[in-house]
Amino acid sequence: MIWPGVISYFSQYLPVTDKTPALTLQEGNTPLIRSYHLEKKLNLGALFFKFEGMNPTGSFKDRGMVMAVAKAKEEGRSVVMCASTGNTSASAAAYAKRAGISCIVLVPEGKIALGKLSQALMHGARVLALEGNFDQALAIVRFITANYPVALVNSINPYRIEGQKTASFEVVEWLEGEAPDCLALPVGNAGNITAYWKGFKQWYQLGKIKSLPRMLGFQAALSAPLVLGRPVENPQTVATAIRIGNPASWQGAVEAKNESEGLIESVTDEEILAAQRLLSEEEGIFVEPASAASVAGVIKKSQAGYFLGKEKVVCVLTGHGLKDPDIAIKEIGGKIERVSASRKEIVKHLGLEEKV
Ligand code: F0G
Repeated sequence: MIWPGVISYFSQYLPVTDKTPALTLQEGNTPLIRSYHLEKKLNLGALFFKFEGMNPTGSFKDRGMVMAVAKAKEEGRSVVMCASTGNTSASAAAYAKRAGISCIVLVPEGKIALGKLSQALMHGARVLALEGNFDQALAIVRFITANYPVALVNSINPYRIEGQKTASFEVVEWLEGEAPDCLALPVGNAGNITAYWKGFKQWYQLGKIKSLPRMLGFQAALSAPLVLGRPVENPQTVATAIRIGNPASWQGAVEAKNESEGLIESVTDEEILAAQRLLSEEEGIFVEPASAASVAGVIKKSQAGYFLGKEKVVCVLTGHGLKDPDIAIKEIGGKIERVSASRKEIVKHLGLEEKV
């Protein structure tokens, strides 16, 4: 089968009509990779990584964006707009271009990873760098889209959630018709946890799965409003994607946690970076810092004795490591070995036997 993208493949579970344009960059169908190393170290039955960095723009956002932009186009809109910590802007820019409509993105100045910024610019979006944070940007975007003929494509747009829930369907399909026991993911604006939970519930209600997973959400320690139970005015974290102090889908996240008997807890920047490094060094998977929050959280919970030892756990890896090369190089760049352009010197440097 040639993968047709999420709208076409999952159309029966999505709000599509005859008039919905067949928009796609063949997003979705991302791998569910079994852990080689971490699974053995943690007390788990099985550990999988849903690698959403394999989507066309390198993050899970493409699933929801394809829906939101297709619907905007169906409704005759010619401009879309979003606030973003980076990935949403990259995805919105790409899909808007594909749909032949224009795109405006509002991003927090200096707090957006290089890869994401370059994508939005390359896809021809109008990029406004805000002297402020994501929460302020979203408030402004809400105002503009409510008062001008501009379609909002943040995850408060319900079509975004609809598209994103397809990831939970894929998890089930790749696990041959079963839901995992736990699904761990990073939480920022809380659209994704809301979407996964919606998807699992939908398939449960249709009888396609016999059980529901516990949803394990993880926020960065200094950007953890859902853990604190109140908005954070000045959120901070190295994981800029989830540097959010007042999540729009607050209610959805709390429902996912409560209904699934899951949890939303925090992990420190140190734990996030350690998990990112572990994924790269031991599993061969390069993710951006925010994505590593799911793995950092599962490690933390395992160490605290949360797992009984038989659980099948899926960690969602939301974005590709190439999104944020600066952080990676800052963390590990010191390992580069400088050498001169000399065959002899390099042979010696590598400790190889000299050949004449
Ligand atoms: N991981 C990555 C890589 C993200 O880009 C985001 C959110 C999240 C996790 C959190 O997902 O917001 O649904 O809880 N990025 C948004 C953006 C905010 O603008 O790109 P969430």
